[in-house]
Amino acid sequence: MPVKLRALHADITTLVVDAIVNAANATLLGGGGVDGAIHRAAGPGLLDECRRLGGCRTGEAKLTSGHRLPARYVIHTVGPVWRGGGSGEAALLSACYQNALRLAADQNLTTIAFPSISTGVYGYPFAEAARIAVRSVHAALNTWPAFEEVIFCCFAESDRLVYQRLLNENGDRGHAAAIGERNRCAAAHLNGKGDVNRTAAGPCADVLVPKTPGNTTKTRPEVSRLLSPHDGRPSPADGV
Ligand code: APR
Repeated sequence: MPVKLRALHADITTLVVDAIVNAANATLLGGGGVDGAIHRAAGPGLLDECRRLGGCRTGEAKLTSGHRLPARYVIHTVGPVWRGGGSGEAALLSACYQNALRLAADQNLTTIAFPSISTGVYGYPFAEAARIAVRSVHAALNTWPAFEEVIFCCFAESDRLVYQRLLNENGDRGHAAAIGERNRCAAAHLNGKGDVNRTAAGPCADVLVPKTPGNTTKTRPEVSRLLSPHDGRPSPADGV
């Protein structure tokens, strides 16, 4: 089954996938932005586990369990700080995506969601970072083809449109179309254009249901409840 690449407007801490990727810092001890949101949603057990990891170098990635998150795992990676483009930032950012996918493949994970690494506090120009993200994921999937779904999770609809254009250019339109009907209402709900049925296992309920070994994707009514809408404006609590 071909891998689906998708751009989604959502809070990554709500996604029901095998792994979400955290845009962390080298200490792995939490921070603001998506790092802070993931630690808040995961609970204190995540920090306890991160304390035992001994930090992480830029471009590298480390795995923890998801704790209270709906995702089974968190893959922490440290993106480069943008210094104008002449300090190897592009290669380091690409390494974040490739090393995260390598770790996920090592664990036989098949669904993963990325935030836009380095594009917040670290200042990486968004469109260029998104181009590197899509290109790096495509390259990594040639090495690890067993993935079913790779999601570029954007905190703003305007960011999602940047990724959607790149995915369309890269011929991922087929994947987007293939899943378009099934996830249309979920996307509409997330983008505030409709309302997904939060209780019944409606057409959206099987969105982002992780695969557990030995079974096909099962519909879980509570999944649509986890796709929390948000208006794309980072909350002050997120420190971005
Ligand atoms: N879900 C999805 N995306 C999010 C969320 C969220 N809940 N919160 C923020 N984002 C997006 C931001 O809008 C941005 O596009 O994640 C992207 C990355 O922004 P940052 O979180 O600021 O990460 P980064 O730029 O890589 O800087 C990392 O910031 O929070 C600290 O501890 C972190 O020191 C590290 C630095």
